[in-house]
Amino acid sequence: MGMDDRTTTFGRKRSCTITRCGAFALVLTFVGSIVITGLLVCHFAPCVDGKISQHRDILDWEESSMFRAGRSFRRSRANKINVRLPRSIVPKSYDVNLVPFIWEGNFTFNGEVKIVVSVVQDTTNVTLHAFDMDINSKYTSVSEYPAASKSNKVIKINQQFNDTIRQFYIIKLAKTLKAGKQYLIYLKYIGRLNDYLQGFYRSSYIVNNETRWIATTQFQPTDARRAFPCFDEPAFKATFQINIARPTNMTSVSNMPRERESQPVEGMPTYVWDHFQRSVPMSTYLVAFMVADFEARHSESRNVSVWARKDALEQSDYSLQIGPKILDYYENYFQIKFPLPKIDMVALPDFSAGAMENWGLITYRETALLYQDGVSANGNKQRVAAVVAHELAHQWFGNLVTPSWWTDLWLNEGFASYVENIGIDAVEPSWKALEQFVVHDMQNVFAPDALESSHPITIEVDNPDEINEIFDRISYAKGASIIRMMDHFLTTEVFKRGLTNYLNAKAYKSADQDNLWHTLTKQAHKDEVLDKDITVKQIMDTWTLQTGFPVITVKRNYQDNTAVITQERFMLRNHSKKGKSPLWWVPITYTTATKLNFNKTKPSTWMKVEKSINLDNVSDDPNEWVIFNLLETGYYRVNYDQKNWQAIIKHLKSEGYKDIPTINRAQLLDDALNLARAGLLDYGTAMDVTSYLEQETEYLPWKAALSAIIYLDNMLVNVQGYDMFRKHCLKLLDNVYRNVSFKDDTNDPQLTVFTRADILTLACDLGQQDCVSNAVKQFQEWRASNNTSVSNPISPNLKSIIYCTAIRMGGESDWNFMWQQYLKSNVGSEKDLLLQALGCTRETWLLSRYLNWASSSNSFIRKQDMTRVFASVANNIIGQPIAFNFFRNKWNQLKEYLGTSFSSINGIIKASTNRINSKYELKDLVEFVNEHKEEFGSASRAAEQAIEHVEANIQWLERNHKKIYNWLKKKS
Ligand SMILES: *[C@@H]1O[C@H](CO)[C@@H](O)[C@H](O)[C@H]1NC(C)=O
Ligand SMILES: *[C@@H]1O[C@H](CO)[C@@H](O)[C@H](O)[C@H]1NC(C)=O
Ligand SMILES: *[C@@H]1O[C@H](CO)[C@@H](O)[C@H](O)[C@H]1NC(C)=O
Repeated sequence: MGMDDRTTTFGRKRSCTITRCGAFALVLTFVGSIVITGLLVCHFAPCVDGKISQHRDILDWEESSMFRAGRSFRRSRANKINVRLPRSIVPKSYDVNLVPFIWEGNFTFNGEVKIVVSVVQDTTNVTLHAFDMDINSKYTSVSEYPAASKSNKVIKINQQFNDTIRQFYIIKLAKTLKAGKQYLIYLKYIGRLNDYLQGFYRSSYIVNNETRWIATTQFQPTDARRAFPCFDEPAFKATFQINIARPTNMTSVSNMPRERESQPVEGMPTYVWDHFQRSVPMSTYLVAFMVADFEARHSESRNVSVWARKDALEQSDYSLQIGPKILDYYENYFQIKFPLPKIDMVALPDFSAGAMENWGLITYRETALLYQDGVSANGNKQRVAAVVAHELAHQWFGNLVTPSWWTDLWLNEGFASYVENIGIDAVEPSWKALEQFVVHDMQNVFAPDALESSHPITIEVDNPDEINEIFDRISYAKGASIIRMMDHFLTTEVFKRGLTNYLNAKAYKSADQDNLWHTLTKQAHKDEVLDKDITVKQIMDTWTLQTGFPVITVKRNYQDNTAVITQERFMLRNHSKKGKSPLWWVPITYTTATKLNFNKTKPSTWMKVEKSINLDNVSDDPNEWVIFNLLETGYYRVNYDQKNWQAIIKHLKSEGYKDIPTINRAQLLDDALNLARAGLLDYGTAMDVTSYLEQETEYLPWKAALSAIIYLDNMLVNVQGYDMFRKHCLKLLDNVYRNVSFKDDTNDPQLTVFTRADILTLACDLGQQDCVSNAVKQFQEWRASNNTSVSNPISPNLKSIIYCTAIRMGGESDWNFMWQQYLKSNVGSEKDLLLQALGCTRETWLLSRYLNWASSSNSFIRKQDMTRVFASVANNIIGQPIAFNFFRNKWNQLKEYLGTSFSSINGIIKASTNRINSKYELKDLVEFVNEHKEEFGSASRAAEQAIEHVEANIQWLERNHKKIYNWLKKKS
């Protein structure tokens, strides 16, 4: 599933808000990767959405879900109940009949399911999943299949009941079901079209003051059981034949095409039956159906359609254009034809994730599928491409071959998160998606993975809460990063061949990571890219089963041209616990100032779970630098001895700095600043690396630097020396600001557009005069022209900067104008931007009222957008204390309003405490958390983390403030 972009959001919005360099930063704390992402994104991307793009997804606030995952990982498994289904019965086929009452409006549905099962082991019960539905036991039956001709061989039922904790429905039989035989199970029930975006749920939208209803599904990971009783584990693949009764004035879609003309429904003249073709064998979580009054547009080149609200359908040009192309490309990449007769892609107004890869019926939130040229930013367009490419990649990797259990979720999501970039590259080569990956995903996930609370990418999970927790940044972005590393150390041709073999061998079945490692090893040995005694499993187990990632330290011997390389886990804090670090198989690549072989990403040697190795002939010239981890294809950081760092800094500051490719420039910045933050490199050296930014105009290095700069800004904003810091930032920005200028040009390459968005955001946040006055001027021109119904003249890529800066500088009437625009807008991404900008005001009462609106129903702010609003307020330097107080004072109101989406509280806690670095506020936080300990539930980990995070901020400040102050003083 694609993650939603709330995260991103976080980052983004704030940016604007704050005045300073980043103050926004939310979290920055590295902690949040997400955050970071967001941040970065935002910030620099400013609010624009520019970046959003990348970020795809995230299901929940990632960070927080990561914390939760960390917790469950540690939870004792000793006295846990087993929530897995018995293996004695396996389903073969389902026939599902559904009658949803969305039109009449009691929001229930009548359901019937017939399941043909095979018995593998004698058993006297049928145990399957069913949740939140009323099964009418009178109708339940179990009979031999196919039915014997004389008697119908019905098996007598002794007892049936639900086991609510395990979400099971159990039918106990009077007779043994025999191994090798097949049986037919029939169940009749009433389900609920709930409004919490899980299972078979309802959603709505408004046209001309009239509410239009939608009934649709989201099953991954464990909610098919809310729609029909089933064996709801991914390894239980079966075929599905879906029948839906729908109101005649609506349409229905499902995974497969409709089989024949709609049929009348007995006793219901306003309904007809739609019968869909039987599916190929697939997992329950990939089943999908929808009833709505949407309209569709169809591609001319392939059987691909996009469905949306009628008013939004014109925004589907882009996805309709790229979808079929990416599909063609993947057929070639995987060397396997797409196996279904059609693909429908649906834009839903209410959707919890970013998108869901249901086989043949992909569902998206509107912003992940729809794009309006001239209204939305380049970043929105990129997000559409990314999410479409992500979900289409799953049609093979995930749908055709499915992880046997959720433990291997990372493989599914990591794979799609990596391959989506290859898909984007196929349709938009100028965007350099594979380069963007390094700053948007890999460097981003380094942050949470450097914390003690991180977890291994392969993680044991059983119950639905635990499963939901692992849809986090670690699974997606770290998964993608280590798959990318594998693509490089195996070489792409070998990687692709192995992949095709794996997909063919396991098609329509399930598999686990060892199956993939095995196939790749075979191919690698055949093509001689790995020694016979080395397996992919040996290598990859060190990356998937252990927490974190290494930093390698290169110490050169300048007399004999050798170097000693050591590895240890990179930790943002508590590095001191030396000696106990795990070890990895680290692919080693490097080049020198004279060789400049940056494209040689096939490793020249390995660190084979060794603490240290010696390298000979590193460089003949003691005065030239060496750089390791070429194109940052390895998932690790690199530190050097002082002399080598100085040689690198000298080169970066010279005219020849472009000798080092942008990815490695971004790497040097990101590594240096994070090594400093972790106490492994002195801040002076790291700040010296950033000095070369005065001449840098490329996107990747800036993006890498910005997240660290934002953190510094957050920490320094209220302490001595901030004026010097601000001046220093403005000086670094001077050249690139003039280079990009405050004018969007539609002919600019994507990365220039993103750079502009990021740089202007930072400049405006820092209060740079030219930036602020341009922003206010353009906003006022728009306001003035608005009565004359001229369309918005502000360039989409600059909207976030201009909206936020203008709201920050403006007053109530500007705010009201913006709110009106929000109510009027028909474009999802525009609505998001406006919501973010509304949090930029400096009027405290507007901020408080805004938070109130966001946390009550009927305020025109959707529940799904609440964390967005909260983050935008919290990222505003003036808004942060308001958000902090609001969540403490209105705790009960929030809890009640959020209900089942209570996990959003994690994002709220994080955002509103992110920047805190004073002891006084820490005390308030601790007090509140202690007082409400019992009520935090799933958010208790986020609360603990917030405290830990604030403590770390305080500690960081104590340790580094002086040093940075002195460095700045020396420079000014
Ligand atoms: C919901 O409404 C339909 C149509 O009016 C009716 O047939 C059905 O019994 C109702 N279901 C429940 C559970 O009340
Ligand atoms: C149902 O049968 C399976 C296999 O025979 C057994 O493991 C399980 O405990 C039984 N469940 C109940 C509730 O009897
Ligand atoms: C289990 O029983 C409760 C009532 O005791 C009922 O409300 C619920 O819907 C049932 N669950 C299933 C799956 O039938």
